[in-house]
Amino acid sequence: MVRVRVNTSSKDYQIEIETGLFKQLPQLFKSRYQGRRLALISDDRVFGLYGRSFVQELEQQGLETVTFVFPEGEQQKNLESLKGIYQVLAEASFTRSDYVVALGGGVTGDMAGLAAATFLRGLGFIQIPTSLLAMVDSSIGGKVAVDMEQGKNLIGAFYQPDAVYTDPSLLTTLGDRLFSDGMAELIKHGLIRDKDLCQRLETLGSRSRITEHLDEIISVSCRIKGAFVEQDEQDTGIRQILNFGHTIGHAIEKVQQYNGLTHGEAVSVGMVHITRITERLGLTKPGTSQRLVGMLKSFNLPVVMPEISIEDLVRAIRIDKKSRSGLINIAYLREIGDCGLIKWSFEELEEHLFAQLEN
Ligand SMILES: NC(=O)c1ccc[n+]([C@@H]2O[C@H](COP(=O)([O-])OP(=O)(O)OC[C@H]3O[C@@H](n4cnc5c(N)ncnc54)[C@H](O)[C@@H]3O)[C@@H](O)[C@H]2O)c1
Repeated sequence: MVRVRVNTSSKDYQIEIETGLFKQLPQLFKSRYQGRRLALISDDRVFGLYGRSFVQELEQQGLETVTFVFPEGEQQKNLESLKGIYQVLAEASFTRSDYVVALGGGVTGDMAGLAAATFLRGLGFIQIPTSLLAMVDSSIGGKVAVDMEQGKNLIGAFYQPDAVYTDPSLLTTLGDRLFSDGMAELIKHGLIRDKDLCQRLETLGSRSRITEHLDEIISVSCRIKGAFVEQDEQDTGIRQILNFGHTIGHAIEKVQQYNGLTHGEAVSVGMVHITRITERLGLTKPGTSQRLVGMLKSFNLPVVMPEISIEDLVRAIRIDKKSRSGLINIAYLREIGDCGLIKWSFEELEEHLFAQLEN
């Protein structure tokens, strides 16, 4: 078992990572949460795979459990589903000593977390991430939210979990494209802070070869994200380094109306393009973007800008990054394992993007 501690000003918690941990959870929960009620939140796919039997086992251990199951997909991360969770909690007369348990990917974790943050002004909150993206990224750091028609994650809060239980063996049922999606964030963590992790990923180089090392690799990734969260829980400074590749990535997702590249794929393209730009400007060690491309390709991530107009891309960045000063913080690599922030005006970013993409 690997334990990663995340010590923030609002909560001090542990991420426990171990292949096979999920099977042990009913007993572990009995010892840790006896007398508390649990509200298990899952989408229908994850509930069918893991949730139903988990609830039965929790009940066999004497833990009172209610469930809220919603249809899978980002479209369900909305106020209607959130209301559904509140109703379940209210009908079961949950009190502040009870727990919301998110069993699922980032959609489940974000929405369950917002319910936990707001119902009675704060219930206990446990994350059991089941997608790679949730294991290395969304289950850590306390950003919880739902979407609106007008945009993603518009209603949210910072609310750290009390505990995170991560079992990499749950990933055996995750499809390849979603696995790669999570790899984009995992690779990003190496790129911004840990050249040894990058070397390890380069050596292993594919899903099949990484599988038996997932406990170790996921823990390293969690430690990196956790350290940024500890330093800057509210995302006003250094935590913005975690946005490496995201300025361009978010814009691609937006231009494609969230129907094209997945989030991780868009971030992959974003990381490559920003690194090519900063390499041309002499801010990044030569050869970095080439290494980055190799790493991303080996995990089936795209590195080429999709067929979208640069004007649309730039417009989307302007909308996404509204800023009074007209300056935006861009995370960039000095070299593999070392990332900094630089402030550019929109005009500068546009100019660099045009120069790079028209080349
Ligand atoms: N809070 C944060 O810091 C943060 C960070 C990054 C992303 N996010 C959010 O995370 C969401 C994306 O996360 P996601 O990709 O996990 O989405 P998701 O929760 O929709 O999961 C993706 C799909 O994988 C399925 N799935 C999950 N685990 C599975 C498993 N073990 N086996 C088989 N299928 C499985 C789900 O049913 C779903 O269909 C977005 O809403 C994004 O905004 C949040």
